[in-house]
Amino acid sequence: MKRAMIIWCAVCTSLLMLTSCEKEGNEGSNEAKLSSNGSAESHNMGQNCMDCHQKGGGGEGWFTVAGTIYSEANNSTVPNGLVELYTGPNGTGSLAYTVEVDSRGNFYSTEKVNFGGGLYPVTVKGQSRRFMPDPVSNGQCNSCHGDSTHKIWGN
Ligand code: HEC
Ligand code: HEC
Repeated sequence: MKRAMIIWCAVCTSLLMLTSCEKEGNEGSNEAKLSSNGSAESHNMGQNCMDCHQKGGGGEGWFTVAGTIYSEANNSTVPNGLVELYTGPNGTGSLAYTVEVDSRGNFYSTEKVNFGGGLYPVTVKGQSRRFMPDPVSNGQCNSCHGDSTHKIWGN
């Protein structure tokens, strides 16, 4: 009987430890994160960042806009450009948001972005500007690019 109790307690304690660790891992936290040209703090190029970087996800910072820029010519990442979000197609309307691409080709932000009725993404690298023909209602760029459609081209 005593022995059964001891085993039972051991099981309970390990269960408790497991759930508390898991909870910590899953919660992550919404620290402010913003990519900048030249920085190299990011990882997981090409993956949908918001699989983890959202509430309940475990990534540090809950991203509002994030993704990875590639070169159409050779499929390698394109660092240090810009991603712009306009209210109209082909860079028309007003510029609602800009985020810099880091040295790994990733961009990410936890800043509030108002997608309203949809925003039109543009990638900028040197003289090259690429326009997404349709508006997006959220910033999970790699949820489509590299999955249901080609990667985001930067040049
Ligand atoms: C599979 C889950 C997962 C995915 C997908 C993921 N991340 Fe993370 N990310 C994490 C975790 C966990 C951390 C915190 C621990 C660490 O730094 O590795 C983190 C940390 C970070 C940090 C903070 C590093 C620091 O030192 O401050 C940045 C920036 C970041 N991720 C960017 C991205 C970008 C951009 C993408 C998409 C291209 C992405 N992550 C995709 C899980 C993920
Ligand atoms: C709902 C899915 C989806 C999301 C989310 C999405 N895109 Fe797109 N994007 C597409 C599709 C589909 C095309 C058109 C592909 C084609 O026909 O070549 C496209 C095209 C583009 C192009 C033009 C590429 C070229 O051929 O020059 C750019 C740039 C782009 N997207 C950037 C982004 C950025 C940046 C984000 C995040 C803010 C984003 N997209 C989010 C689906 C998506």
